[in-house]
Amino acid sequence: MEFELNETQEMIRNTARQFAERTLAPAAAELDREHRFPRAALAEAAELGLLGINVPAEYGGVEAGAVAYSLAVTELARACAATTVALCVSNMVAEVVTAFGNSDQRSEHVEKLCSGDYVVGGFALSEAGAGSDPGGMATRARKTDKGWVIDGSKLWITSGTDAGLFVVWARTSDAPGTKGVSCFLVPGDAPGLTAGKPEEKLGQRGSPTTALEFSGVEVGDEALLGELERGFPIAMMALDGGRVGIASLALGVGLAASEFANRYATERKQFGRPIASFQALQWYMADSATELSAARLLALRAAWLKEQGKPFTREASMAKLFASERAFTACNRALQMLGGYGYTADFPIERYLRDVRVTMIYEGTSEIQRLVIGRDVVRQFGS
Ligand code: CAA
Repeated sequence: MEFELNETQEMIRNTARQFAERTLAPAAAELDREHRFPRAALAEAAELGLLGINVPAEYGGVEAGAVAYSLAVTELARACAATTVALCVSNMVAEVVTAFGNSDQRSEHVEKLCSGDYVVGGFALSEAGAGSDPGGMATRARKTDKGWVIDGSKLWITSGTDAGLFVVWARTSDAPGTKGVSCFLVPGDAPGLTAGKPEEKLGQRGSPTTALEFSGVEVGDEALLGELERGFPIAMMALDGGRVGIASLALGVGLAASEFANRYATERKQFGRPIASFQALQWYMADSATELSAARLLALRAAWLKEQGKPFTREASMAKLFASERAFTACNRALQMLGGYGYTADFPIERYLRDVRVTMIYEGTSEIQRLVIGRDVVRQFGS
């Protein structure tokens, strides 16, 4: 077993860290306050190769692998979770088109995703009545002579207002549940496609989350991604990788909060000595350090399995479940360590706490992760 990073992984992690410190961290509080989409920062991320981290070089990616991706996401999220989630979803879209697209689709779209020509990619699966159960979706794609016409509405779409390309799931037959679902590539400026007003959210406010309305959106036959009516497994496979990204993101926010609070505790004095010298605070610090280290190992193990082409569905869900819940606890402890100061917007901890909360919800709730893990455990024991 090897715990050392290779040269490429080290390089991507350092690139992400420097970009995060230089560009993301100074703007994060303002983005949050003003609910502003970080368009310029994402363009810079594209220039650095961070929109195609695990995408082959022949399609414009940097081909650094899934472990490097996890490391980079953690660094970025230490500075700004809102920018990082837009970047994660875009990487997920670039990977899904690379994995399931034909050669024309790859050449047409993947380079534009990696280069930032599409700004970012969007992932349009969920609907008002189909969140944890996307097989209940109602959006339809109807076959015509020229291609397909899509009608319906999606909800909770990251970068809904700004994405230049969406991967969209729609029913193409009356087959029930997950069976009659196909997957399409739809340009963000397609006539008939409109994004709703960004939701007012608790956190990650620089990342616009919107509804998408598809009203007679026409796409050609070439928009179908993968096989007809085999779209659902594409969504599931994409989400396996996506969950490693969200685990890595949650970890980054938890680390940022812990590091800030640990530094504060060594400087803040009460009863004539630094509060870090009290056992109560040391136990908070010890628990967060231990839990976040475990979260990091789970995320990297899932990423490594993915990189090796081995099954990693269970491990991705374990990483997301554990990292998001432990990172939330770490942020909450960090706030407690700062006391009243932590509760004000003068310090970044309240933002970290708000930002980390959604990692227990998007890309599958904690309950769904437990369901995925539990089903796999049952399968292993032969029932
Ligand atoms: N890999 C490959 N295929 C998979 C798979 C996986 N991990 N999981 C399921 N499948 C396949 C199954 O093999 C099955 O294939 P067949 O049609 O060949 O039989 C098909 O998909 C249906 O599988 P299930 O019967 O297991 O499906 P289900 O209805 O029971 O649902 C679920 C399973 C795990 C609960 C799934 O619905 C799920 O993950 N729900 C959560 C959805 C989610 O995470 N949404 C996030 C939205 S995106 C987002 O948040 C992005 C963002 O913007 C931040």
